[in-house]
Amino acid sequence: AQFTMVERSTCIACGACNPVAPDLFDYTADGFAYALLDDNEGTTEVPEDLIEDLEDAFEGCPTNSIKMSDTPFSCQKVEAS
Ligand code: F3S
Repeated sequence: AQFTMVERSTCIACGACNPVAPDLFDYTADGFAYALLDDNEGTTEVPEDLIEDLEDAFEGCPTNSIKMSDTPFSCQKVEAS
């Protein structure tokens, strides 16, 4: 299993993640990214068919703010807007 969340403290709102993984990442009104699956909690398993997108976003983020783990993250929930 894979889990993902965005480290919001290091995201610079560069906007590279949504174009490569539109089902996984979007931006709040301030332009910073969050994981769509669970409002950035990082506790919802990434569906198998989105793993490739996840890896693209992970590799493409200039600040390594896209986090991946094979165990759930602890809560860093943000409000989607
Ligand atoms: Fe932020 Fe990285 Fe996406 S800097 S906007 S998480 S590509």
